[in-house]
Amino acid sequence: MSLGDRIRRLIETAGPLPVSDYMAMCLFDPAEGYYTTREPFGENGDFTTAPEISQMFGEMVGAWLVHAWRALGCPTPFALVEMGPGRGTLMRDILRTARIDSAFLAAAQIHLVETSERLRGVQAETLVPHAIKWHDDLSTLPPLPMLFAANELFDAVPVRQFEQTPEGWCERRVGLDTDGNLALVTGLPVADKSLLPPGASAVPVGAIFEYAPAREAIAATIGERLATHGGAALVIDYGHIHSGFADTLQALRTHRFVSVFEQPGSADLTSHVDFESLARAAESAGASALPAMTQGDFLLSLGLAERAGALGHGKDEKTQAGIRAAAERLAGTGKGEMGGLFKVLCLTGAPLALPPFP
Ligand SMILES: C[S@@+](CC[C@H](N)C(=O)[O-])C[C@H]1O[C@@H](n2cnc3c(N)ncnc32)[C@H](O)[C@@H]1O
Repeated sequence: MSLGDRIRRLIETAGPLPVSDYMAMCLFDPAEGYYTTREPFGENGDFTTAPEISQMFGEMVGAWLVHAWRALGCPTPFALVEMGPGRGTLMRDILRTARIDSAFLAAAQIHLVETSERLRGVQAETLVPHAIKWHDDLSTLPPLPMLFAANELFDAVPVRQFEQTPEGWCERRVGLDTDGNLALVTGLPVADKSLLPPGASAVPVGAIFEYAPAREAIAATIGERLATHGGAALVIDYGHIHSGFADTLQALRTHRFVSVFEQPGSADLTSHVDFESLARAAESAGASALPAMTQGDFLLSLGLAERAGALGHGKDEKTQAGIRAAAERLAGTGKGEMGGLFKVLCLTGAPLALPPFP
């Protein structure tokens, strides 16, 4: 029985599902989940992430991590952690860049947090000859100072959706329409109004608020580890700096948006990340959060344009044009560019100035 049929059967017997349960089944079902079975990355896949666009992205992140390690007093040893590493491209570029400081590399223990067995295999190949330890979640990381990076992890962590209705705020669920097709339906009233942001009672009927307890739990765990053992974390993803009201649940297949109900498990299901809620969760666990900034500002402040110039120096015209296009895609704010849509959040164990964060 296909994943779609199993989900319909579940709804018939147990009733409509929270959007977060539907997302989790589509992405992580052991037999047919998107990340369990698909190869989503790159021009021939469903989406292209920043590290897959150009090595320059990982180089900027790597240079920032080396700088942060020095600012923290060069803790030795420390855990160099990436969560949701995909093909391992970002970590490969971080490690190559970190050769600028052999003491950093000597002190680093590399840890990858990855739920997909299949992707762990890909990461192992990408990261030869480095010694890597994999984890199912953050709980098994060693008790060490941590330098942490996650790119496009949080958008894949399931969200619940609340909807303003004429009867007040209710949870949106995935149910069945009169033809038996998967459809969004209105569920029970939201019992705990403290889950809603300030001003929620004043927004018009139809407004959506995305509440992401699983994302907040991960941010809180990162914050707690930073506060206990020291270190710094970079979280990069598409989303909004301040909490707000919007329906951002989306499905992407072969670089095109499709219905979130089309062939469950065959498309990437995500929603935009609420950076304010992540910062709040990490702070409530004892960490400090620096004000989030756009990816464009982050990369350009770290020298993306200069790096693109150096990388293209002496190359032929076509290669130079490719490097320029990649830099623009990473930092530009036009249609299809990542610089404005993507944000960067920095968390630290103790208050610490870490440029380029304001
Ligand atoms: C969109 S991909 C991003 C991959 C990579 N960071 C990049 O930028 O190319 C999401 C990654 O997060 C992993 N992932 C999703 N949920 C996770 C979780 N709860 N814990 C650890 N990894 C997770 C997926 O298996 C995949 O490797």
